[in-house]
Parts: sequence; C-alpha cells; structure tokens
Amino acid sequence: MPVPARSVIDLETTRMAIDVGLEDVLSVGLEGCPGPMAEAIRYAVLAPGKRIRPLLMVAAWTSVRRSEARSEPVPRGVRRLACSVELVHAYSLVHDDLPCMDDDDLRRGRPTVHMRYGGRTAILAGAALMPLAVEAVGIAASDLGLADAVTARLVRLLTSAAGGSGMVGGQLLDLRAEGRPVGVAELDRIHAGKTARLIEAACLMGGVAGRADEGDVARLGRYGRSLGLAFQVVDDILDVTGTAQSMGKAGGRDAALGKATYPNVVGLDAARARAEELVEDARREIAGLADPSGLATIASLVVDRER
Ligand code: IPE
Ligand code: IPE
Ligand code: MG
Ligand code: MG
Ligand code: MG
Repeated sequence: MPVPARSVIDLETTRMAIDVGLEDVLSVGLEGCPGPMAEAIRYAVLAPGKRIRPLLMVAAWTSVRRSEARSEPVPRGVRRLACSVELVHAYSLVHDDLPCMDDDDLRRGRPTVHMRYGGRTAILAGAALMPLAVEAVGIAASDLGLADAVTARLVRLLTSAAGGSGMVGGQLLDLRAEGRPVGVAELDRIHAGKTARLIEAACLMGGVAGRADEGDVARLGRYGRSLGLAFQVVDDILDVTGTAQSMGKAGGRDAALGKATYPNVVGLDAARARAEELVEDARREIAGLADPSGLATIASLVVDRER
C-alpha cells in the first residue's frame, strides 16, 4: 500500500524556525544602524506575533515540492525569504498604531513602539524595515542560488504588495473611510489593499521560490487573496468580540474610530458567514497542489482563532 506523503509543516516547529530566521536577518541587517533604532526594530519584529505570513510562505513553498523533497528541513534561504514578509508586516503595524493612524497603545501584549520609544523613532524604525525586507530577499535568493530573474520577480512581488497599489494604498483608503457609510464593494477594496495583498504575496513568493509551474503559482495567488480577505474579516470580528487579554491589542477600537468593517457594514453573523465562504474559496484553489496540507491547516487557523 502506498505511504501517503507526510506533510513537513509542523506549525510550531516552523514558527520556531522563523523566529531563528528573524534573529539571523536582523543581526546582519541592523549592522551600522544607530542603537536606539536597532532596539526599536528588534522590539517591533521580535514581539510575539502569530507569524501567519511567513508560515504561509513556507507552507506555499512546501506545497509545490516533489514528495521526496517535502520531508527535508526548511532550508535557511526559505526561512530568510519568509522573514522578508514579516519585516514588511512588522513595519505596517508600527505605522498602523501611530497616533495619526489608529492611535493604539497596545500591540502583541506590549506597549506599541511609539509608546515605548516615541513617535519619531517609531516612524523611522518603520521606514528602515522596508529596505531591510528587500535586503532579506536578496540574501535569501543568494542562499537558494536563484537566478537573477527569479530574484527580481520576488522583490517585485513584495514591493508591489507593500506599495501604493497594495498595502499602504489600502491603509490610506481605510483612514479615508473613517466615520462615513461604506458599502461592501468599497470595504473589499480596502481589505484587499491593506491586508490581502501582502498575504497573497507571501503565497506567491513561496511558490516562485519553490519553482512551481505558473498554474500552481496562480492557484497560490488566488488562495492567498481569498485567505487574506478572510483574515481581515476575522480581525474585524475579533475587534468586536475579543478582549485585550486574548488578542494582545485593545478591542473596540474600530467602533471608536468609526472604521469601515464587516461587522459594522453587514453585522456579526453575516461577517462570520463571509469569512467561512472566503476560506472555502481559498481551500478550493489548493486542492490540486502536490501537498496542500500545510496551507489547509493555516486556512482553518485563520477563521478559528482568538487573536
Ligand atoms: C494584524 O495582523 C494586522 C492585520 C492585517 C489585521 P496579525 O493579526 O497577523 O498580527 P500579528 O503579527 O499576529 O501580531
Ligand atoms: C491593519 O489593519 C492593516 C495593516 C497594518 C496593514 P487593522 O488596523 O485592523 O489592524 P489591527 O487591528 O490594528 O491589528
Ligand atoms: Mg488600521
Ligand atoms: Mg489598527
Ligand atoms: Mg483590526
């Protein structure tokens, strides 16, 4: 009887490997950086986040491997590449929490970076993280021996997802939608930009680094897009139902700021149904991959979480 291919994606082990990768990427990347900035960056990045985006990148990479290659440990280059997306994410959180944005005091169970180090250091530490992320892609690509064209594609995937047509553009739309009525189409556009694009990029980059064929890369992109939208719907739900204790960040902030959110626009029950539906869409996309198990597990975590 054939033995089914074992999935190597043990999430706890992979999360630990990502944390080692973050230490490693920062120890190289922060060389020459002024001490207070290096301290603020380490504080922001190494705080206990869920690491969903780098986990997705590793899971996407694993999902397109041949079965005999899947049980090998995750190579250092893949770990470092996965960290690049977490650096972008960490920067986005530092800026998202600033008084001129969502004005939050608590993040990942700790004072936000501007509360701890002041607004000026927080803004500059956030800005320093973006080039650091691109540098991490370059280092990872040379570890993996990737061709220049592949490296350039990875950089482009990350920077376009982070930029004005992606995450930061979505953040501006989010801020400009505060305090006024918003419909579902506009809400989806905000969520796609501020959250889904980076999650999609994590999946695409894992596939490209894993040398997936273009059909599978496209499937990973569609999975990431749907999962990214679901992720933000659930984040909006948790803002209503969660506590600071369970989430490591204050609840009730979206209502206080008049944010455009799913619970606000369609109600909690319809928001939950929408998240489930998006995760089902995501699952359908990965069914044909060589090993979708890691991505399927993460999809379940996205809807079924308390933080
Ligand atoms: C929070 O992201 C910001 C959103 C895009 C909703 P996460 O919920 O992934 O935050 P951490 O990394 O676990 O702290
Ligand atoms: C943040 O969305 C999205 C980005 C940081 C790009 P939220 O503002 O909803 O995230 P939280 O709730 O503060 O984590
Ligand atoms: Mg925000
Ligand atoms: Mg916020
Ligand atoms: Mg939120």
